[in-house]
Amino acid sequence: MNQKFFPLEPIEKASIDELRSLQLKRLRSTLQNAYANSPVYRAKFDAAGVHPDDCKSLSDLAKFPFTTKLDLRDSYPFGMFAVPREQCSRIHASSGTTGKPTVVGYTARDIDTWATVVARSIRAGGAKPGDMVHISYGYGLFTGGLGAHYGAEKLGLTVVPFGGGQTERQVQLIQDFQSNIIMVTPSYMLAIADEYERQGIDPKTSSLRIGIFGAEPWTNDMRVAIEKRMAIDAVDIYGLSEVMGPGVASECIETKDGPTIWEDHFYPEIINPETGEPVQDGEMGELVFTSLTKEALPIIRYRTRDLTRLLPGTARTMRRMEKITGRSDDMMIIRGVNVFPSQIEELILKRPELAPHYQCVLTREGPMDSLKVVVETSAGMGKDSIEARAAAKQLQHEIKVYIGSSVEIELRAEGGVERSQGKAKRVVDLRGK
Ligand code: DLL
Repeated sequence: MNQKFFPLEPIEKASIDELRSLQLKRLRSTLQNAYANSPVYRAKFDAAGVHPDDCKSLSDLAKFPFTTKLDLRDSYPFGMFAVPREQCSRIHASSGTTGKPTVVGYTARDIDTWATVVARSIRAGGAKPGDMVHISYGYGLFTGGLGAHYGAEKLGLTVVPFGGGQTERQVQLIQDFQSNIIMVTPSYMLAIADEYERQGIDPKTSSLRIGIFGAEPWTNDMRVAIEKRMAIDAVDIYGLSEVMGPGVASECIETKDGPTIWEDHFYPEIINPETGEPVQDGEMGELVFTSLTKEALPIIRYRTRDLTRLLPGTARTMRRMEKITGRSDDMMIIRGVNVFPSQIEELILKRPELAPHYQCVLTREGPMDSLKVVVETSAGMGKDSIEARAAAKQLQHEIKVYIGSSVEIELRAEGGVERSQGKAKRVVDLRGK
């Protein structure tokens, strides 16, 4: 291998002016395509009294109506597509907790665009020519596995398409094949690290150099904990199936300061979730995406329900998003106080007696919601030991002081909290049960 690093694509080094003019050109053609070829978009634009010709600058996008998960559900399965189904080379779907799944489609060109942005993400994460990538995101209708797979292949790396589950074998194959990069949810990475220890292998000694983690919220404290435990660099990859899949945004290893949004393909806005009004860069709100190059399923102002803010570019010209620590769906309201699981995670990670395997259990007695934090003690620490009980008391106190909620803490011994093999379920809602 005579090449030491992969070169950047020219657009990653373009000026902001070049980027904005490319975005406007692509935005206008996306709106035209959606209006001309997707009856659902045509009806939505007509109802809002807007036409693609009204988009003369990037800020004109705010005149166009939002798209939500409901629009996709209502047009189940293929009603929003802007190409005949026969022109789709792939379908993915998200499981959906209630009712019908959300279905998305890709033309062959869409698949290639997707592979390009995932390849860019893996490269930004520090991949080098010759690396081997172990993929533990689930394969199938979920976009994680195949999305990562096509990107890693496009970059020219060796791919081990493991998928989720069979944790013991994951460890064996990482050890036997000597993979350099792992792509997995951060919560499942912890389960794999536990398995290393169970097999008597120090996870720090593994061949892994980089972890590209996403598909669920994880805090910077979790990053530090995983990096220390595995002796790797951990970077954040973001995406959602409605917009593409993994690789909508991804972190650059040199800065690790929040995912860079691949803005030449996905145009971001932040809105006030209550009023729907766009807010300035730097202000918190709901992330909204418009695809700029997708053919099969153009997505116009999709409300992600993810809460974050836009930040100026650092390692690249393109803007970044602050690491997502909350999704409006995961927000718990405990006696009037808004609580996100990530806030609890940060406090758990401060206590060496506790392990970051946790769940937030919501119950209701009378009119009030109560929150119980179920958390494991660290390996070798008895859950009834004085140290563990003191740590639980301290956690309870800190949640009260820093978050403002009175919660109950339940300690469980090692292995007592269900391990995820994909996205961790952080909130268990027992209200009304
Ligand atoms: O989770 C796609 C993906 C796969 C991304 C693998 C990264 C890695 P969905 O199943 O449609 O797609 O879920 C999308 O997951 O709206 C966020 O709430 C959450 N999410 C995804 N990545 C991150 C991340 C995939 N890096 C939903 N940080 C999104 C926080 C994330 N949340």
